[in-house]
Amino acid sequence: MKIGIDKIGFFAPNLYVDLKDLAEARGIDPNKFLIGLGQSEMAICPETQDSVSLAANAAYNILTEEDINDIDLLIFATESGVDLSKSGASFIHGLLNLKSNVRSIEMKHACYSATFAVQTAKAHIALNPTKKALVLASDLAIYGLNNSAEPTQGAGAIALLISKNPKLVEIEDDSAFLTTDVLDFWKPIYSDVALVDGHFSNQKYQESFIEVYQAYLEKTNRTINDFKAICLHTPYSKIGYKTLKMITNEDAHPELFNNYQLATTLNRRVGNIYTGALYLSLLSLLERANLKYGDRIGLYSYGSGAVAEFFSVIVSKDYEKHLNKDKNDHMLNNRMKLSIKEYEELLLKKIDGTDITFNQMDKKDNAYFYFKGISNHQRLYAKKHNFE
Ligand code: HMG
Repeated sequence: MKIGIDKIGFFAPNLYVDLKDLAEARGIDPNKFLIGLGQSEMAICPETQDSVSLAANAAYNILTEEDINDIDLLIFATESGVDLSKSGASFIHGLLNLKSNVRSIEMKHACYSATFAVQTAKAHIALNPTKKALVLASDLAIYGLNNSAEPTQGAGAIALLISKNPKLVEIEDDSAFLTTDVLDFWKPIYSDVALVDGHFSNQKYQESFIEVYQAYLEKTNRTINDFKAICLHTPYSKIGYKTLKMITNEDAHPELFNNYQLATTLNRRVGNIYTGALYLSLLSLLERANLKYGDRIGLYSYGSGAVAEFFSVIVSKDYEKHLNKDKNDHMLNNRMKLSIKEYEELLLKKIDGTDITFNQMDKKDNAYFYFKGISNHQRLYAKKHNFE
């Protein structure tokens, strides 16, 4: 039985920072961000969006009534959880009006947990072939102001509907993975921002890639020539490019590098979305590359701390008929650009537990679901009434 990704939903908040403006404000040559990191814009959340509402919006973009009836597993993968006890999945379950006989859970392992969720969902469908599983990967990547990680921030969510006979890609069975106990990136419970040992995190990302990629090739007896494209976890697009260069070069495999550029087009405009970053790259590839039924795509998932996994998917017949490229491009092209002053003010705002009600401001947030505020320490979400 073929099991894989039937639909991909994507949601980015309505605000962004142009990295040329950020470079200018920080007195840095813009080419460091545009060429050195390979990023051009980063998505920023208004006060009315958080990891829960971003994820609900990504799912809302793809789910039909039939899907809602068939879903019996909901996994919310995030490292930007809004509560240490109540699962974000149960908020989302309510917002999406899913049936009550659904298993739901929130999962964490830095940027890796969505891949664990995808593999868990695949195993679930193998046992329950008439059902569907909804995997949501949603994050706000925030490092704070005036540091070298600042241009690698971002925000957004990916929704993956996992089913049998998938319309987009089938997930193959061979997967290679590893865990190492390292402190390359972390977010202490007392901190509003992630902390990172930047160059060490790059090193661990690349060393882990080589290890799981080689293990995958040994396990499958495949070679690099078996891949039409390789998508990598994309905290910023340059690192994936440099990582691919560790295993080949542009003269030997021009198509792999060309497809890598297409696979990072969305990521360069959204920034790091942690758990969803690999799947945003897969979406970017599917929407832009010239792929054929049966093509194999390699996927490298990395989550600091660290877990890495290399696996592969096979492109489904007529996959291109089941994408929403124009809608996704329209969403990014119609965002509101923030001045650096507006961005800094937004990033420094904190929620301290006192009651607050947000009025969704149409210009800053045009999403269907939004975070409405806090009342008596309870988080409240709402739907926009005049949504088109
Ligand atoms: P940095 O140290 O300020 O940058 O921060 P740099 O000095 O290394 O420069 C970056 C690149 O720009 C270099 O290219 C420079 O040469 C180039 P490279 O040598 O690497 O090819 N450069 C220029 N190019 C053109 N024109 C110029 C110019 N100037 C310099 N004028 C760093 C970079 C990535 C370390 C920082 O942004 C950071 O700490 N980011 C956050 C950490 C991160 O993204 N790590 C990635 C791997 S870990 C991971 O992916 C997990 C993660 O997603 C979290 C999770 O799992 O949850 C982060």
